[in-house]
Amino acid sequence: MTLEPIKMAQSESRAKILVVDDAPQNLRPIQALLTLSGYEVITACDGEEALLKVEQESPDLVLLDVMIPKLTGYEVCARLKGDERTRLIPVVIVISPPIKEQIVRGFEVGADDFLHRPLGRAELVARVGSLIQAKRLNDSLVNLENAILALAAAVEAKDPYTEGHLKRVANYATSLGKEIGLSYSEQRLLKKAATLHDVGKIGIRESVLLKPGPLTDEEFDHIKSHCVIGERICSPLGDRFILEVIRHHHERYDGRGYPDGLAGSEIPLAARIMALVDTYDALTHDRPYRRGFPHEGALNILRNEIGRQFDAALALPFIDMVESGCFQFVDGECSPEV
Ligand SMILES: [Fe+2]
Ligand SMILES: [Fe+2]
Repeated sequence: MTLEPIKMAQSESRAKILVVDDAPQNLRPIQALLTLSGYEVITACDGEEALLKVEQESPDLVLLDVMIPKLTGYEVCARLKGDERTRLIPVVIVISPPIKEQIVRGFEVGADDFLHRPLGRAELVARVGSLIQAKRLNDSLVNLENAILALAAAVEAKDPYTEGHLKRVANYATSLGKEIGLSYSEQRLLKKAATLHDVGKIGIRESVLLKPGPLTDEEFDHIKSHCVIGERICSPLGDRFILEVIRHHHERYDGRGYPDGLAGSEIPLAARIMALVDTYDALTHDRPYRRGFPHEGALNILRNEIGRQFDAALALPFIDMVESGCFQFVDGECSPEV
């Protein structure tokens, strides 16, 4: 059989694909097809070798037979999807013949797509091509996100009074989120949002940010703009949940906050959580203009502000969590790590 090379888009031309199969008669035709299509192909003959190759070679996609020695294809897929470093690599499971149970099992372990033997050339190239394109888009988003996270860390470094603040509020917010029943993916988003909530302070003059005395009206307005600046910086991430936390983490339950004066349930839940834990952390740490309060004093302030600054449905469980010793404080750091 003669195969014409298939023209690939430039961005896909050097994508690397790991093909995992213990049967050479299966491996060779796939390898030939993908190589002809312009991909770099690496291979593995069993589950353990597959995991090793992923670690060493960082492929852009894994094409995985399920019946392989040492670890099954399902186990390999589950491990890749359970590891933060590899979960975004698309995994295509190859099954023969197509049995419903196999597809269900594949979805359970996080497979991105399925191919049935015998593999048709056009279908193989089309599926692989679209998954790799999606992965590339995802990679650029992850790079962008890392750049913004670095910016958030730079903001924290600019202000010695907020050292460790991002880590602590991320810890408080996710713990409270878990307590009130947010899903695991919402907790993860909350953690990211907490880390980014003050990134807009990069646009605030240091003379204002670090001013030890009271602020003028103009200076306070300038500080307040960090919510909108942060939202603008993070808008390319395109994640509404995160953008809402950044924009609205200084709203008050009674509507007297900023930037939009939202009240009650108009304020997104995650932003209400952030407003609460952000204030608690600010109260318990020194500021240029005052010393930090002990935990008990800070909790009293939270209690007094229920219904004014804070939502009772969040403040009460959070106060309980702090009082029950849910967070351990060692040298200003709090645990457990989340
Ligand atoms: Fe803020
Ligand atoms: Fe903050």
